[in-house]
Amino acid sequence: IPVEVFDLVIFGGTGDLALRKLLPALFRRDAVGQIPPQARIIALALDHQTLEEYRAQVADALQTHLRAVEAQAETLARFLERLEYHAVDLMSPASFQSLATILDTCPERIRIYYLAVAPALFSAISHGLAGAGLAGNNARLVLEKPLGHDHASAALLNAQVGEVFDEHAIYRIDHYLGKETVQNLMALRFANALFEPVWNAQCIDHVQITAAESLGVGSRGGYYDTAGAIRDMVQNHLLQLLCLIAIEPPYRFEADAVRDEKLKVLRSLRPLSGRKVLDHTVRGQYLASSSSPAYIQEVGNPASMTESYVALKVEIDSWRWSGVPFYLRTGKRLKAQSAEIAVVFKQPSHLMFGDLPTPILPNVLTMRLQPDEGLRLHIMTKEPGPGGFRLHDIPLDMAFAEGQNEDWRMPDAYERLLMDVVRGNQTLFMRGDEVEAAWQWIDPIIEAWQLSGRKPDGYDPGTSGPISAIEMMARDGRRWREIE
Ligand code: BG6
Repeated sequence: IPVEVFDLVIFGGTGDLALRKLLPALFRRDAVGQIPPQARIIALALDHQTLEEYRAQVADALQTHLRAVEAQAETLARFLERLEYHAVDLMSPASFQSLATILDTCPERIRIYYLAVAPALFSAISHGLAGAGLAGNNARLVLEKPLGHDHASAALLNAQVGEVFDEHAIYRIDHYLGKETVQNLMALRFANALFEPVWNAQCIDHVQITAAESLGVGSRGGYYDTAGAIRDMVQNHLLQLLCLIAIEPPYRFEADAVRDEKLKVLRSLRPLSGRKVLDHTVRGQYLASSSSPAYIQEVGNPASMTESYVALKVEIDSWRWSGVPFYLRTGKRLKAQSAEIAVVFKQPSHLMFGDLPTPILPNVLTMRLQPDEGLRLHIMTKEPGPGGFRLHDIPLDMAFAEGQNEDWRMPDAYERLLMDVVRGNQTLFMRGDEVEAAWQWIDPIIEAWQLSGRKPDGYDPGTSGPISAIEMMARDGRRWREIE
């Protein structure tokens, strides 16, 4: 279904985010006819280059990031035709005036400003837009992380952008919310009668959320070394996943109803500070292997205390979740590229089978975010046969790709999110108060780490992280699931 006609202005049009994620996502939406022919994509950046040069740069990026079957010459040419390019100096009001001249040729359109630039520029750009009369009712602002590096800076950012744009016009992207499995989590919980009655402390033993990456920090060392895994992944992606597992049913599937519930979860996270932080968290940093450099070499900072891995035990002080730990972990250079949520249920209250040759395993519901997106429910069944009574664990599997043909691919999160901005649907975007609440919970953890002066524990590349993370689980009599 085509969306309304829009003008999309990408600040940072030659940057990595634009070339690797945004333009491929727009191309794909265009290829299926969702973008109306009149819509314009206006890229802005510092580089002085002609429109033809910019189009060639985008064509190159699309060839790299799309599959060959997608980048058909005709579709590609049509998409490139939509692009406009302007070199701008964001510090000069004249740049915003020239942008106004372009946009004012179609004053009635929805205007989307995607700030694919460093957050230090968010305030200046918002005010620049306002100064040129470009922040009216039809304007929407899209922001990407890092949204601050602690609570104070996030609150300042919210306030600065909030001077120009109303909260209803601000779309803070957390691309995890655009992933199919994550949206499916809402469907699973709230469109089925089966799960909600067992979705609580009576039936659930614990939850594990894993986002493992096999790659290192690569060329992003400069940014990453100031952030670490907790700021880069936990404050946003992992806490958002936790929220969606833990929320109470929203009264309607609508932006503020969902976000109000997420905010309640964030506010009910049991605070971790001081000594408790050291018992409830583990930090790791990858070492060198014969084929890959150590973290400290990769970021060029031999004294770096930044973690490339973090594991946390999180508790939620609420009626539903009291006593159910949520174990979160994420890291780079681990044994596989894999992200999943696993809900581990309690054992049946009475085990009537007596001594069995095989143990009764708990039911586990896993939701795989990537790769092989899908759901799996492990249940105990009787092994067929007339012999003794033996139980074994069988997965009920559902792959989202099932039944699709070979050319089918899982839509990328940005496709969904960009079209939601055009549709004016904020359900999958973070509200300012959510971002701040997440930082409020994270700040004391980072503070305790800094005060302790402890270095992150080293771990070998290609493993599942530091031994201390296994020990943290073992202290609770539990085990991490295999990363695979
Ligand atoms: C980004 C982080 O937000 O998410 C990266 O900054 C990380 O460090 C990436 O690699 C992971 O995203 P995905 O979609 O590949 O799981």
